[in-house]
Amino acid sequence: MQVKKIMVVGAGQMGGGIAQVCAQAGYPVVLRDIEESFVEKGLAVIENNLQRSVDKGRLTEEDKAAVFGRIRGTVNLEDGADADIVIEAIVENMEVKEELFKALDKICPPHTILASNTSSLPITSIAAVTSRPEKVIGMHFMNPVPVMKLVEIIRGLATSDQTYAVIEELTKGLEKVPVEVNDFPGFVSNRVLLPMINEAVYCLMEGVAQPEAIDSVMKLGMNHPMGPLELADLIGLDTCLSIMEVLHEGLGDSKYRPCPLLRKYVSAGWLGRKTGRGFYNYQ
Ligand code: CAA
Ligand code: NAD
Repeated sequence: MQVKKIMVVGAGQMGGGIAQVCAQAGYPVVLRDIEESFVEKGLAVIENNLQRSVDKGRLTEEDKAAVFGRIRGTVNLEDGADADIVIEAIVENMEVKEELFKALDKICPPHTILASNTSSLPITSIAAVTSRPEKVIGMHFMNPVPVMKLVEIIRGLATSDQTYAVIEELTKGLEKVPVEVNDFPGFVSNRVLLPMINEAVYCLMEGVAQPEAIDSVMKLGMNHPMGPLELADLIGLDTCLSIMEVLHEGLGDSKYRPCPLLRKYVSAGWLGRKTGRGFYNYQ
């Protein structure tokens, strides 16, 4: 299948990054969010990222204009109805994602592949609300998308080999490295990463150490580029909590119970960098 157009749904930190790398690879992209202001914010972040590349001499002004010109922001899902591939990057909530996939299934032609950037939710269940489960797949980018090489590709129970092959080729075309995994809660990335972050929050809650000390131990002692609490603030504490809940419920083991302090921060609206406050203060 020749991919001529891509729609990215969700213009937050992941959707914006995905739209940027698709446009950089030459694809026309429709970027959709639910409110004009969210679309504009997403486009502004992309423009800033591209400008940074111009300032560093990696991109010409003309190239920047061409890349940015390939991205069209919208609040209308129908504007992307003729896309060959849709990549969903909306909130990590099963009911909201199911509603969207039902709508996409109705408006997109039969050949369109529906991919989800979900961090942990079952691809098989998302696929089951559509009439094309063989064309539904997980395409899990890492944050920040323009920088990180990995795309974890998740096969749902019904995902066809043909769908997998198209998404694998697309991933390579975006200059990313595809890694195939099966559909289990949290896949590989977040089944391994999130329990570490959750344990760091327990260390904080139990007074084992201050946030800076916890992060320093992991950065200086284990050579991680960011400490677990800094990284949680980058990911978004709401997303971290959702992933822990999926691991806990999906795997049924108490070792995955979300730390109460993580719940408390989320209920306070302290979601990390995106709200200006999480384990650290960004205001
Ligand atoms: N968007 C675009 N580019 C960004 C960026 C962003 N948000 N943040 C940093 N960059 C770019 C910078 O422009 C810089 O580019 P150049 O070197 O080409 O100029 C480069 O990244 C390095 O940035 P900095 O020098 O500012 O900072 P750094 O060396 O500390 O690197 C980092 C920043 C790449 C984010 C690094 O700290 C890192 O790798 N952190 C860990 C990230 C990680 O683990 N991501 C996975 C999260 S889990 C996930 O995504 C899955 C999930 O489902 C939750
Ligand atoms: P975010 O909160 O930054 O952005 C989500 C965006 O989706 C918001 O702009 C919101 O307005 C929009 N949205 C919500 N419902 C919508 C709908 N029905 N249609 C269109 N847009 C809608 O979240 P994010 O961090 O970009 O995460 C998005 C997805 O990517 C989640 O599934 C998350 O688990 C996954 N993910 C996140 C990370 C990360 O580090 N944050 C990494 C990999 C994958």
